[in-house]
Amino acid sequence: MIETFRSVVRFKPIELDRVKRRLSGVATVDDLRAIARRRLPRGVFDYIDGGAEDERSMARNVGAFGRIEFRPRVLRDVSRVDPSTELFGRRLAFPLILAPTGFTRIAHSQGELAVARAAQRAGIPYSLSTVSTRSIEEVAAVSDGPKWFQVYTWRDRGLVRELVERSAAAGYEALWLTVDTAVLGRRERDVRRGFTLPPKIGLETIFDGAFHPGWTLDFLRAEPITFSNVVDKGVDDGRTAVSLAGQVQSQFDPSLSWDDVEWLRSIWDGPIVLKGIQTVADAKQAVASGVAGIALSNHGGRQLDDAPTPIELVEPVAQEVGGQIAIICDGGIRRGADIVKAIALGADACSAGRAYLYALGAAGERGVDHMLGIMHDGVVRTMALSGCRTIDEIDRSLVTWR
Ligand code: GLV
Repeated sequence: MIETFRSVVRFKPIELDRVKRRLSGVATVDDLRAIARRRLPRGVFDYIDGGAEDERSMARNVGAFGRIEFRPRVLRDVSRVDPSTELFGRRLAFPLILAPTGFTRIAHSQGELAVARAAQRAGIPYSLSTVSTRSIEEVAAVSDGPKWFQVYTWRDRGLVRELVERSAAAGYEALWLTVDTAVLGRRERDVRRGFTLPPKIGLETIFDGAFHPGWTLDFLRAEPITFSNVVDKGVDDGRTAVSLAGQVQSQFDPSLSWDDVEWLRSIWDGPIVLKGIQTVADAKQAVASGVAGIALSNHGGRQLDDAPTPIELVEPVAQEVGGQIAIICDGGIRRGADIVKAIALGADACSAGRAYLYALGAAGERGVDHMLGIMHDGVVRTMALSGCRTIDEIDRSLVTWR
């Protein structure tokens, strides 16, 4: 009996590194979300996790992937699988771009710097938001990897031009123009909590902070959060607490139109991707406008609720404009398998925001490394299990809608 007992008992050495210990049981993005939920103050977690109105778009973004079934091919010698792909003349280690997210330092004080460094290590592009909490130059200083800059159009076009020129000077390679934010969607979790950015310290926050000491210490020790790209530019730079809705309403220009796309093309030589295309008709108009790419996106379900689900839009859009313009599927990406499904339906790449925010909130920069490892390995495993050795071999015959 003792012999048998001895043969099966293995005590793992106690892991002294707290972050490693925390990550050792993390198998999925959902696991990272669960840790972030425990570690972040409720207002912060809900800002990241929440969506517009009844959050149906947000739920469908993720849920729709469950309706896609593989038609795997076998006996194909998958001893070598190469998940790399080319986009805008750049090799990506696998077809994922880290999407722009606002206010990233509320998840962790290292914020954008941590995510940009992790993206570089993973060999994929990082996108910096206009409403970032580290500047264009600060991010460029820590990452030589491919970087994209996301443009919200301030009413002051001179300021937009300045940001675009700074991005070019700092070596950013592509621009996203976000086109689904004429006004801000109603994120009702934020409304209920009266959530502001940066979080204002009221009694409730102090109380909440006491239950989330890791986040609170990290937040208070770091320098104050500002919209780093526009400090001292005569617009709201976030030094005082603002509601995001108020900020967007007063600063961003709802008159944005296809003429502005033309204007952006005139001041930027590199690729432009319209982020937030939601119909085949607009995808066609994007081709006519001469941009290099579109992201099928409903802003993570944070803008118009009951908007089209990006993964369901990939095939109809690819049938019309595939090959003429790069198609990026943005929204609901939680696994490598999701990326493979989107490619099979006709996307050139995917992008994800929440996945890395959960990772950052759960375990900082190492959390983001861990998450990118999960995504990368998931793509490779899915390709091997479905008989695809290269991204080019992933085609429409690989999947079917249930
Ligand atoms: C910013 O773009 C947000 O969705 O909160």
